[in-house]
Amino acid sequence: MAVLDEAYDTHAELYASFLDPTLAAPTERLVELAGAGADVRLLDLATGTGPVARAAAGRGARVVAVDQSRGMLDVARRLSPQLDFRVADAHALPFDPAAFDVVTCGLSLSHFRRRDAVLREVLEVLRPGGRFVASAWGPGSCFPTGGIGDLLSTSADEEVTSLDEATWSAAERGAEVLRRAGFTRVATATEFFTGRFADAEQALAWSLAWPLTAADLAALDPAAREELLTVAREALRDADLSWRFAINYFVAMAPDTSSVDR
Ligand SMILES: C[S@@+](CC[C@H](N)C(=O)[O-])C[C@H]1O[C@@H](n2cnc3c(N)ncnc32)[C@H](O)[C@@H]1O
Repeated sequence: MAVLDEAYDTHAELYASFLDPTLAAPTERLVELAGAGADVRLLDLATGTGPVARAAAGRGARVVAVDQSRGMLDVARRLSPQLDFRVADAHALPFDPAAFDVVTCGLSLSHFRRRDAVLREVLEVLRPGGRFVASAWGPGSCFPTGGIGDLLSTSADEEVTSLDEATWSAAERGAEVLRRAGFTRVATATEFFTGRFADAEQALAWSLAWPLTAADLAALDPAAREELLTVAREALRDADLSWRFAINYFVAMAPDTSSVDR
């Protein structure tokens, strides 16, 4: 299993405890753009611990959610036992053609190793005229980390740089990929979300909850880990504890065979 996949599997609880709460507003915006209302048949792709699925179900949508990570899905099921979570790879979706009105995908486009294959699957499971709504990190995010990224430098770095952030953090580039894949009426918007950590310890816990960071930290011996945490705490002591997330949203339609604007 790849380093990143294993990290998601192992550190899912941290993700739910620290990352999901700060991503609640971007998630709500995603399901709003998805039009996730009563009886909409919605597939949440790469659902993770299920925040998008939960928000969509809260608006009355009939939700099925998939992820390849059993660890993330274990947490998702614990948090929302009433929802339908399934293990599946986005590159080979186990659904009938046209099974969904909407497909959502929160902050995961950059993870797919063969993005065109995934987009083909999305088009296949969407009904004609159905809607694909996805989010990705945009340019201009900032948050205090205590320099954790620089302090931890391991083999996982290679995996991080293999994520396709370049495509999806440039909204127009991402939109072009969607058009070429066969989507119509592709629209993008970058939106900003702000907040503030209560204190330096909360900021540190948040920085350490990202799956690869958590995996790197767990791989250190106890003395090295303590030393690193001391340096990070010192860096955070007088830091500005506010954060700003820049999120790119993509809204795209599956071609409607009965429509003239294909
Ligand atoms: C950054 S998390 C996002 C989770 C969730 N959508 C959210 O908004 O918080 C990325 C997720 O993508 C999942 N993932 C990555 N590649 C996948 C694939 N090929 N098929 C299914 N899930 C995948 C990971 O397991 C992880 O749960």
